[in-house]
Formats: sequence, C-alpha cells, structure tokens
Amino acid sequence: MNNTFTLCQQAADYIRTKMDASDAIGIVLGSGLGELAEEIENPTIIDYGDIPNFPKTSVPGHEGKLILGTLNGAKVLCLKGRFHFYEGHSMATVAMPTRVMKLLGVKALILTNAAGGCNKTFKPGTLMFIDDFINYMGDNPLYGENLEELGPRFPDMTKAIDERYNELGKKCAKELGIDARSGVYMAFRGPNYETPAEIRFAQTIGADAVGMSTVPEILAARHCGLPVIGISCITNMAAGMTGEELSHKEVQEVADRVKGEFKGLIRKIISEM
Ligand code: HPA
Repeated sequence: MNNTFTLCQQAADYIRTKMDASDAIGIVLGSGLGELAEEIENPTIIDYGDIPNFPKTSVPGHEGKLILGTLNGAKVLCLKGRFHFYEGHSMATVAMPTRVMKLLGVKALILTNAAGGCNKTFKPGTLMFIDDFINYMGDNPLYGENLEELGPRFPDMTKAIDERYNELGKKCAKELGIDARSGVYMAFRGPNYETPAEIRFAQTIGADAVGMSTVPEILAARHCGLPVIGISCITNMAAGMTGEELSHKEVQEVADRVKGEFKGLIRKIISEM
C-alpha cells in the first residue's frame, strides 16, 4: 500500500544510493539562508525533482536541493527549499523531508525561517530561538492513520523542542555577541500576511512571532523522535504594529541583511553539536 510511510521509504531508498547521511545534522534553510548551501565542502547534491515522491517547490528563492557535505567540520544535510502548506501541498508532503531525514539516520534537525515579530521588544533583524509553538494552521501532518513505524498516536509536545540543543544554540549566540531572543512561534496557513486583528489575537494568546512554516516539521520531527530546534529571523514587525504595509521584498531585504550573522550562528551551533 502506498501510504505516507512507504512514500518516505521510497524517497529515502533512492537518496541512500547517492549519499550516506547517517549521523549528519539536518538543516532546513529558510528565506535568506540559502547561501549556506553553497558553502558546504565536498558537496553531494540531489535535486528534489530526482527524488521519488518529492514535489517541486514553487516559491522564488526556495530552490529544491538536498546537499550533503561538511560545514565547520560537521557532517550536514542541508535542505535548500521547503514545501509550504500554502503552496497547496498536503501536510504529508510538507512533513516528508523531515521523515525522510529520520529514515536516513540524521541525528538532529535545525529548522530556520523568516517570521514576523509580534513581540513589541523585537526589531527587524532579531534572531529568535523557537522555545514553543502554536499550531494555527488548521491541519496537522500527524492527522489521519498513525504511522506506527515512525512514532506514537499521541506524541508528547511538552518537550517538542530539544532542550539540550536549544540551550546550546543560545549559548553559541551569546558567545558570538548576538542578541538573540527566544519565544513562541505561531504558524498561520498563509499565504497572505496576517491582518492587524489576527496579530492582536496572536499577541493575546502568547505568540512572539508569526509565520507560515516550521510547525509541521517540528510536529513530524517530534513524532518520529528526531531532536529538533528552530530559529526564526524576524524580518519585519507583524501587521498593524508599525502602520507600514508588509511586503515580501522587505522580508527578503532584512533576511539578506542578517544572513551573515545567521550563517555564523548556524556554523557555530553545528560545530558544537
Ligand atoms: N507573517 C507571516 N509570515 C512571515 C512574516 C509575517 O509577518 N514575515 C516573514 N514571514
């Protein structure tokens, strides 16, 4: 039967014929961080288009490539390009790369993204460690038949984020002199940016940042026992907080401005994991 698990297995089986990703650190490169992929030493590259059951990505700046190699002496498997729910992919598809990484023997996963800040003390350019999250996407990759081969029906989310790696990340930021923050990431379905009323709601229920990704990957990672952390680049203050309208261009510009710092942080974290 071609259930989600079988589809993931077929993808992993193909990837294994091209690369050995066991014990690598998985990194999902969000907006602006794609450049890190070009800095990987001795890379082995697979186009998503060649991987069975992987769809193509459609967002500009989110090219679809899997890159295995070395970064700061650490073995990494970078995903350049992710599948977003707002593109019309199913949650099973959005979560597939995470599950495939687990099947490949990846030891931990670092998720990155661009996000809007709704914590008033944040500024565009702030880096935020995701300590916890709110799933407001109206769907969930764990919905439906449970994939017993991967994890339990009712996975715990008290410790969804790996405490040890999250603390290590914060320590690395401190040592680099980066004023990184931590907080709650709230995922909306998108693709529109939120309304000011939605942002007031997000603030009321405890969100520090809002975005349209990452939560499905955290849920899938936690379910299958893959240690995961997430870091958001706050590219803009969320809707209604400044009186300015939001634009994808602004998001890209700020992500671009912060990328040096962000890349440095990722490099240090993986070298100490
Ligand atoms: N909202 C949702 N997603 C985002 C934002 C935002 O303000 N900025 C970057 N990604």
